[in-house]
Amino acid sequence: MKLTPLSLLVTGAIALVLPDHIAADGPQAPVTVPRDREVPQSQRQGGDHSSPSWWWDTVLPSGETIESAIDEGLQGLDAVNSGIAQVVHAADSIQDDLKNELAKVATAHGGGHHDFPDLTIYQLLHKNKFTKKFAALVEEHEDIVKLLNSTGSTNYTLFAPVDAAFDDIPEDHPKPGKDFIEAVLRYHIGVGEYRAHKILTTNTIPTALNEKFLGDEPQRLRTSLGLWGVTVNFYSRVVAADIGAKNGVVHGVRSLLGPPPMIGRVLTLFPAEFSTLLLAYEKTDFVKYIHDIKMDGSTVFAPSNRAFAALGPRANAFLFNTEKGLKYLKALLKYHIAPDATLYSDAFYDKTGDSEADGSRREHYDLKSLLHEAHIGVDMAFFAGLTSIKVNGFVNVRVRDAPGKNGVIHVVDKVLIPPCKHKHHHEADLGVFDEVSVEELMERLEPYVETDETPLDGFEL
Ligand SMILES: *[C@@H]1O[C@H](CO)[C@@H](O)[C@H](O)[C@H]1NC(C)=O
Ligand SMILES: *[C@@H]1O[C@H](CO)[C@@H](O)[C@H](O)[C@H]1NC(C)=O
Repeated sequence: MKLTPLSLLVTGAIALVLPDHIAADGPQAPVTVPRDREVPQSQRQGGDHSSPSWWWDTVLPSGETIESAIDEGLQGLDAVNSGIAQVVHAADSIQDDLKNELAKVATAHGGGHHDFPDLTIYQLLHKNKFTKKFAALVEEHEDIVKLLNSTGSTNYTLFAPVDAAFDDIPEDHPKPGKDFIEAVLRYHIGVGEYRAHKILTTNTIPTALNEKFLGDEPQRLRTSLGLWGVTVNFYSRVVAADIGAKNGVVHGVRSLLGPPPMIGRVLTLFPAEFSTLLLAYEKTDFVKYIHDIKMDGSTVFAPSNRAFAALGPRANAFLFNTEKGLKYLKALLKYHIAPDATLYSDAFYDKTGDSEADGSRREHYDLKSLLHEAHIGVDMAFFAGLTSIKVNGFVNVRVRDAPGKNGVIHVVDKVLIPPCKHKHHHEADLGVFDEVSVEELMERLEPYVETDETPLDGFEL
């Protein structure tokens, strides 16, 4: 893949949905699932290549397979990683200067405040010699200048990338379009004032980038607290925190924050984590199915390779390698997606039109899945700045709040199985299995399996 600044920004954006322990675990092959390379091309993608797929964005142009997208994503990821390494290196060397200049380099735990109550964020940006490149971009966008210089009813939080963040973009490369850059700039602006102490108890921050794929709600930044302080979207470290302005606060960050791509694209970037899920999408022609469904945002519980492996070899063989099983697999995949409801651990964009839901923060949510009648129960627990999310009572979310253009991803290490429809069940019955029998799986999924569909012919079994 030719690496353009644009793709770098975009892949960088999600770089990283990659939490520390994924790297620690190393690549994990889907042990029980043999890869079927004989699936004809027509069965892989299906559908109309001329219009962009809702789920996969435009990243799978005609003839491209999920597999090749993964390869491409991996290459992009390598480049992003080395780019990040460079940035981190460069940022290390300027860190001392930053300290002097700002009289403070703070982590989230950090010390006193350094405020400039007479300057707006916009003016402050221009005074600061370490964010010149970002300031120059802002200068070209009148709307952004206005926003950052405004002293109205809303204060803002600017995550200003230090100049070193731009080093990995080749100078001679043509600039991305103005709209794209404006979206990038907006994604660096948090709506509301989030000082470091507030970020400690915040999981996601709404930005000035309104996203039509989220039902025109603000796209969000994910914050987390690690060894080195606050990190934004998994990879961009806050290197200078809490520079106060008349209309908000500025934090210096080490890397650019690109608006996240579509969820399908995000998943293809992490084959070590999601190759089985991607194979499942491919084998069930899921892309074609999801393409036709209009959603205003979504919540996706993405089962890791570990989750599928935990179902056991028999269930996997049934689901992936029999014609009948594929229909059950498709139902299973549908159960992991809640349409029109984007549930972050600390915010909820509810576009279901369900009058009972008021979108306010609470501890229990009952989300409608793509299986309609089968709901997904989500419980949030907050303590000491930590958040724990449990699905259907028992399944832990291992990685929360990974932003996507069209929703949010939570990574689960168990496959979610719909509650039994015919029998009365108590909570303990809500799908958690270490190994599931094929009979049990069939019973649970039976009511949701599509029957009026043209059979998936063309599979060589
Ligand atoms: C920014 O706002 C200040 C007042 O707070 C004003 O004096 C200045 O002209 C503004 N700058 C721009 C570029 O709009
Ligand atoms: C914005 O921040 C300034 C400076 O901290 C404060 O005086 C002002 O009340 C804030 N405005 C809003 C709308 O919160």
